[in-house]
Amino acid sequence: MPITFDKEKKIFKLDTPNSTYMIGILDKEHFITHLYYGKYIPDRDLSYIFAPISDAMPSKREGHRAAFMDNIPLEYPTFGIGDFRDHCLEIEDANGHHACSLSYESHRIYHGKPKIPSLPATFAEEKDCTTLELSCKDHILNLNIVLRYSVYEDLDVISKSVIVANQAVTPIYLKRILSGSLEFFGWDYDIVTLHGSWAKECQFYRVPVTANKVITESIRGETSAQSSPMMAILSKDATEDYGEVYGMNLVYSGNFYGSVEGYHTLGTRAVMGIHPSNFSWKLNSGDSFYSPELIYVYSAEGLGQMTRTFHDLYRKHLIRSPYKDKERPILVNNWEATYFDFDEKKLLELAREAKKCGIEMLVLDDGWFGERTIDDRGLGDWIVNEKKIKGGLGKLSSDINALGMKFGLWIEPEMVNPNSNLFRTHPDWAIQIPGRPCTLSRTQLVLDWSRKEVRDGVYSQIKNVLDHANVEYIKWDMNRHLTELGSFGLPADQQQELSHRYVLGVYEIMNRLISDFPNLLYENCSSGGARFDPGVLYYSPQIWASDDSDAIERIRIQAGTSLCYPLSTMGAHVSAVPNHQTGRITPMETRAIVALFGSFGYELDITKLSDQEKAMIQEHTARYHKYHPIVRDGDLYRISDVFHPADDACWSVVSKDKKEALLAYVQIHSRPGSQIFSKKIRLKGLDPNALYEIVEHIYDQEHAHIPYAAEGEEMEEKLVLSGAALMNVGIWMKHSFADYTAQLIYLRKI
Ligand code: GLA
Repeated sequence: MPITFDKEKKIFKLDTPNSTYMIGILDKEHFITHLYYGKYIPDRDLSYIFAPISDAMPSKREGHRAAFMDNIPLEYPTFGIGDFRDHCLEIEDANGHHACSLSYESHRIYHGKPKIPSLPATFAEEKDCTTLELSCKDHILNLNIVLRYSVYEDLDVISKSVIVANQAVTPIYLKRILSGSLEFFGWDYDIVTLHGSWAKECQFYRVPVTANKVITESIRGETSAQSSPMMAILSKDATEDYGEVYGMNLVYSGNFYGSVEGYHTLGTRAVMGIHPSNFSWKLNSGDSFYSPELIYVYSAEGLGQMTRTFHDLYRKHLIRSPYKDKERPILVNNWEATYFDFDEKKLLELAREAKKCGIEMLVLDDGWFGERTIDDRGLGDWIVNEKKIKGGLGKLSSDINALGMKFGLWIEPEMVNPNSNLFRTHPDWAIQIPGRPCTLSRTQLVLDWSRKEVRDGVYSQIKNVLDHANVEYIKWDMNRHLTELGSFGLPADQQQELSHRYVLGVYEIMNRLISDFPNLLYENCSSGGARFDPGVLYYSPQIWASDDSDAIERIRIQAGTSLCYPLSTMGAHVSAVPNHQTGRITPMETRAIVALFGSFGYELDITKLSDQEKAMIQEHTARYHKYHPIVRDGDLYRISDVFHPADDACWSVVSKDKKEALLAYVQIHSRPGSQIFSKKIRLKGLDPNALYEIVEHIYDQEHAHIPYAAEGEEMEEKLVLSGAALMNVGIWMKHSFADYTAQLIYLRKI
């Protein structure tokens, strides 16, 4: 059993294949303490580690000098009882007091993993997971708190969530309910977080643990492009392939808070959960609140293994879409091809050319509905604009199908423009504070999806569209943050529930959409990757990673995004040059190689391309079919520092059976060394004892420098090398006398 309980010592031991997590119940107060998390150990009793600090034990002994808890690693720290570090739980009782404490009552260990009502969460069959429920109580408040841990059988993953039930007769208010905390002895750790901005998502930051808190957070109503709901705590010496890493990722798509704090008694605490800012939840007598799930991943082999564990977890135990193990149709999206300037003729022309290039689906982006000729109007009116699309979407989709292409559609259901029929009819449906001017962003407001009638009103329009056209893909967008938080559906003492209720409303509609249209391929988007989180992946197998489709920028964005999320979840498109976000001109080959390591597609006007460029697209779409299975199902290895690429970037994917590998190398700058031009790359993750053949090496032939080749001499030879040689000696990349060139190498075991 991966979870055991030592009755005598009162110690819980949770084991994954390579890690151990230990919880102890201490003292007559039954405090729930954190004993250990790290590499697997066989021992069952670690209570000795408390001996040197026992004087500082939380104690109610009168006159005791150290009655505070600053030294005690706690499993679920609460506010107001002498723990002054960051805490997970804070309440307000009927008298306005905020203190709360947890003492152990009972526990339950069982196979399988329960769902979390109304929230996304990882799932597992009985054989894959064992769950521990620790029931604790605050006897004064009559509050029951269940700490729930699920341990995966084949992955170094523990998931944690919390349930708070009010068993008192009066309501209490939850002021803060985070999903979990981790405790470490010492400060010898670094913290990795992801931050960014529009078109610059998921940039990688690594800073040391210090006496100040390091915080990653969003109070924007969505997870945001500014911060991602993940943190990793790394031993100081940890690298890509070595050292201990503890990854934390919140399965939630709204405001979140994560902090890592080096505290004065030289411990480190990390907490994560729903952001407590502007949050309060009224818990009436008999009611329960469920926190989102927090994922812990342990790796003793650096960040690389943390990434691979997250990818396996999300592919096997989070993404539910029927497409998760399938090839996704290659799409062309008309946004950067036409923006708002299209009609059905233009779309059909685009579809016709795309079809010839091997593209399989046309996605009609923003601008097909209401009076939406520009972005200041129409959101909320989900009725096709027949001035632009004669005959409507039913006809357009069937015309596109007749070309042998699928048809996909963009929606932004959470939003409304003041200039729309929806807003004119229901001005109270927008989130707002009466009497206070609303902040308009992109001339739009956010609909109050905490209210059922608002959700139903929008969803019935969308369903009507989908019922009357053959739409096989939906791009669900969300293009602004939430401000002036006020709801006409909530009383004054529950206004601070709005942000969480909004997220629950979004999940409800996403669920309805995929239940009503189970075969739909569904992609999420929020001005790019501003809502790229595990919560969304529960509903949608792919998310548009960034509005920045410049191949060079995408290296960092995709590297940061894939730190936790599988490659197949990142929407990645080949777009036009000069790039619309950066103005950079990169070769089409480079754009195609970078996009191949995501959910592949196009975002440009194919009708304007030369015959040579169209021929390249044909090659690239064929290549996608050949290599996508490795990208989708394989193991990612970062070979160079792809988070901060300077002159080049290199990464690879190795199939699970280690029979195939696909390596990408982007030479950002042509920078010769003193003697040799080419760069040697050592592969990772191969079978050292197997022989591999380099079956295909795609590189920029026009600019390639082939060292020492005599005029007309053919330098190409088919290399066969052992996995050991490939990983320890390495192979040469071709040097190119041009910036922004890329190479792709496919190796197969022989
Ligand atoms: C957002 C998306 C884009 C596009 C536009 C349409 O910016 O990220 O991909 O769909 O909206 O308005």
